[in-house]
Amino acid sequence: MERLDKFLCDSGVGSRSQVKPILKAGRVTVDGAVVRDGSAKIHPQKQKICLDGNPLGGKKRIVGMLNKPAGYVTATEDKDSTVMELLPPEWISMEVKPVGRLDKATEGLLLFTNDGDLLHRLISPKKEVPKVYYAQHEGTATAEDVAAFASGLTLRDDTVCLPAKLEPMGAGESLITVCEGKYHQVRRMMASRGMHVTYLERRQEGNLILGDLPRGKCRLLTEVEVLSLDGKG
Ligand code: URA
Repeated sequence: MERLDKFLCDSGVGSRSQVKPILKAGRVTVDGAVVRDGSAKIHPQKQKICLDGNPLGGKKRIVGMLNKPAGYVTATEDKDSTVMELLPPEWISMEVKPVGRLDKATEGLLLFTNDGDLLHRLISPKKEVPKVYYAQHEGTATAEDVAAFASGLTLRDDTVCLPAKLEPMGAGESLITVCEGKYHQVRRMMASRGMHVTYLERRQEGNLILGDLPRGKCRLLTEVEVLSLDGKG
């Protein structure tokens, strides 16, 4: 924790005497609320401090990915093991949250961030980021299955899905690309075509590829990866 006026000086806003009238004028916000008291204690690593709406370099933004193993629930708290147990302590203290979710049994690419605005942009249904899954399943996907996915499947409970891509990889293996995130989406899509999924791994979100990140490990995204994910790359 440190004083707000000291943080503003250290961030290059001005000297103590220059910072005082800036604060008084209500130009500084801490997590969105105007703060006029220079002696207020702030946590620059955890809070977003803005001058005239522009963020100052305090809060460190974390955007990272985990190669999720099966057996972990995508939640910040649960009676079972959660994905949070696999993250570095620094990410936890910086209050990262999972972006969307993977089922307990699903493995692969799971994003985390402590940037609330980015999180909401990424999970917005309007965003429609294509997500690529590798599935092992009963049966073999046919040309009819590919066409049914492409024209928008109707699930067993009558839920209608957006058009999706099914790429058979031979007996019992397929790649599936979907642009939405309904509950158990890929498993239910495959089940609607009589193919029970026995293994599921998310390999890609937009341009972001899981690659050779070992299972259970995480890494920060590069700035280029973040921009591309956010549709700004
Ligand atoms: N579809 C599923 O069925 N499960 C997941 O975890 C992700 C997509």
